[in-house]
Amino acid sequence: MSDRRSFIAKAAGATAASMTFPDRVLAQRPPRASASDYWSELRKEFLIPPGEAFFNTGTLGSSPRVVLDAVVQHMTHVDRDIAHWDYKPDHENFFTGYYPELPVRRKIAQLINATPEEIALTQNATFGMNFVANGLDLHVGDEVIVMQNAHPGGRCGWELRDKRYGANVKYVTPNIPPKDPQELIDLYERATTPQTRVWAIPHLSSTAAILFPVAEMCKRARERNIISIVDGAQTCGHLAIDVKAMGCDAYFTSPHKWLLAPKGTGFLYVRKETLPRVWATLASAEWDNHRDGAYRLMQYGTGNLSLLVGLEKAIDFHMVIGSQRVEQRVIGLADRLRAGLQKIDGVVINSSLHPQMRTGTTIWSVRGKPAVEIQDYLWNTTRVRVRSMSDALGVRQCCHIYNSEAEVDRTLNALQRMVARG
Ligand SMILES: Cc1ncc(COP(=O)(O)O)c(C=O)c1O
Repeated sequence: MSDRRSFIAKAAGATAASMTFPDRVLAQRPPRASASDYWSELRKEFLIPPGEAFFNTGTLGSSPRVVLDAVVQHMTHVDRDIAHWDYKPDHENFFTGYYPELPVRRKIAQLINATPEEIALTQNATFGMNFVANGLDLHVGDEVIVMQNAHPGGRCGWELRDKRYGANVKYVTPNIPPKDPQELIDLYERATTPQTRVWAIPHLSSTAAILFPVAEMCKRARERNIISIVDGAQTCGHLAIDVKAMGCDAYFTSPHKWLLAPKGTGFLYVRKETLPRVWATLASAEWDNHRDGAYRLMQYGTGNLSLLVGLEKAIDFHMVIGSQRVEQRVIGLADRLRAGLQKIDGVVINSSLHPQMRTGTTIWSVRGKPAVEIQDYLWNTTRVRVRSMSDALGVRQCCHIYNSEAEVDRTLNALQRMVARG
């Protein structure tokens, strides 16, 4: 085992103490999603002070202690022990950008049911989207279907491509909320012509929290020989992801949101059969290496290895709990929130209540109240942090594993007081 691997093994050992909690609980009895003692024990793994309820994971997650410790320990090691670095093959290295980083790519592959060769590490979702948008051979007159008002990190690479090279972006605009999943399929199909080459699909849109039926859409795209690119920034670590079942050509995400990984981590999955069609955007030594899969797409020069150590830990942490269990838990909390919101006069839920379109994210507003006023009221009166999106849509409240039933109820109680006050 190389020194780098042995350091990581040691770091894992050092942090095993804080990992024992989920391991222990899981070994004792498989917790049901509603086993509140399990979740309240798990909450102690996070640094957010107990009195503060953080509901803005859609912007940035809070890493558990085990992840933060791994990053800090590794950064300390790099700066302290750098003189030991002999730069020989098979010995520990101290940076990223010049190695395939297979261990972490393997773990990501396991998480989303891909192969390590299909995974490129990036800094975030925006990198992933740009690598695909720039890397595909598209020609003047080719069309790319993109959701209007999709997050810039899932959309603008296509717009740049359009402006510079004339691969036309065609926008589709879903209703908010859409009536059902079929409406979203119809939207993309209606916009499609014989010139359409790509469907750029947000898995879960950022501002209005629209969940797209990606598996069915990717299937229909493939039937038409159209490449399907899924923006997974809001879904990895939130919903259980299986890219093979999804059938997409590419999926990119920001693990620093729902996967609770260090800030500035990301990955791009490109299906094996599609990989030869994607050129590298950033080029260094291995830009044209077609033997090592998506390593070609990781030619961006020096990066921070400590973040990858933390990313591996975040995946371990998530996998110990289990993707399905996380998904059930966050949707369960959000269902409780939505049920409560529906009972409060003047509150409007703008994300979907359709049974197949529920997620951990809810967009809601209070008639006549600016979104920022709702956001600030909740924080100032009860230390509940939601994010204001727009006055039309209201605020976004993302339930994650560090949230609890009590925090959801605290939101609802404060909101009742706010509405009563007028
Ligand atoms: C749907 C979606 N796509 C892309 C992004 C961009 O993420 P990042 O800034 O981490 O690249 C976000 C960020 O909120 C998002 O919600």
